[in-house]
Amino acid sequence: MNLTDSKILVTGGASGMGRHFVLALARDGADVAFCDLNPDAVGAVEAEAASRGLPGKVKGFIANVAKEDEVVALVKDAAAALGGLTGIVNNAGIIRDGLLIKVDRETGAVIKFPLAKWQQVLDVNLTGVFLGAREFAAYAVENKVKQSVIISISSISRHGNMGQGNYSAAKAAIVADTALWAGELARYGIRTGAVAPGFTRTPILEGMPPEALAKVSAPVPLKRIGEPEEMYLAVKFIIENDYFTGRVIDVDGGLRLS
Ligand SMILES: NC(=O)c1ccc[n+]([C@@H]2O[C@H](COP(=O)([O-])OP(=O)(O)OC[C@H]3O[C@@H](n4cnc5c(N)ncnc54)[C@H](O)[C@@H]3O)[C@@H](O)[C@H]2O)c1
Repeated sequence: MNLTDSKILVTGGASGMGRHFVLALARDGADVAFCDLNPDAVGAVEAEAASRGLPGKVKGFIANVAKEDEVVALVKDAAAALGGLTGIVNNAGIIRDGLLIKVDRETGAVIKFPLAKWQQVLDVNLTGVFLGAREFAAYAVENKVKQSVIISISSISRHGNMGQGNYSAAKAAIVADTALWAGELARYGIRTGAVAPGFTRTPILEGMPPEALAKVSAPVPLKRIGEPEEMYLAVKFIIENDYFTGRVIDVDGGLRLS
């Protein structure tokens, strides 16, 4: 698939990596729709795209990827705004970290990880990807789109990162589904792919003090965190390479978590 013929929907496109994907795809000639939760943040990305005079169109929407009706409407509205869709990047994600149990040092009481925090992460990071993939695939088949692609942003944490039971489970599950959806969807001309970033320079990490950032970078063989553009290169590769499907690309500087 050529980027200049592509019409891509990016979820969670108002911040961090998603924001970079939106602007980079439009910079490279794709038309881009994106969603996020906050209207001001969505407007700011649209304004940024307009101020840069990017060749691709950029149109923002408000939608929560964990809500079925909102994702159904999003795919329909995005396709209408761009005059079609040829891909989705399931990027929206959240963290709600904590250990499965911990013991209060003073009282000895066992504190359990709250079910609500488990569920919030599964709702956005796994159900959100399922809904995006399902609605996009249905759209592509109903509209006889010849070639299209579903890309999901996993994480190095999919191997299991202590304190991230919910996040690791969701990020592992979307890699498994990327593989099985490749088999289910190939007959419709739909490819799949996942990108598993290591620590990447986004607002979460930008807010860290330099010493904390140095601690995060120390075990990385390449001795630094990744840049959003480096994650974008993997997204771009998956879009452009018609023989790529069902696999995950690790972009993590060579770091192993476990
Ligand atoms: N930054 C990293 O180091 C890193 C590493 C590996 C994987 N990731 C993954 O990359 C993706 C992007 O992360 P980021 O670091 O850019 O985070 P970020 O917080 O900067 O951006 C995530 C965006 O998703 C939006 N979002 C959250 N919940 C949403 C929902 N329910 N519906 C719609 N939008 C929603 C947020 O508002 C935000 O704009 C996530 O899936 C994350 O898990 C990040």
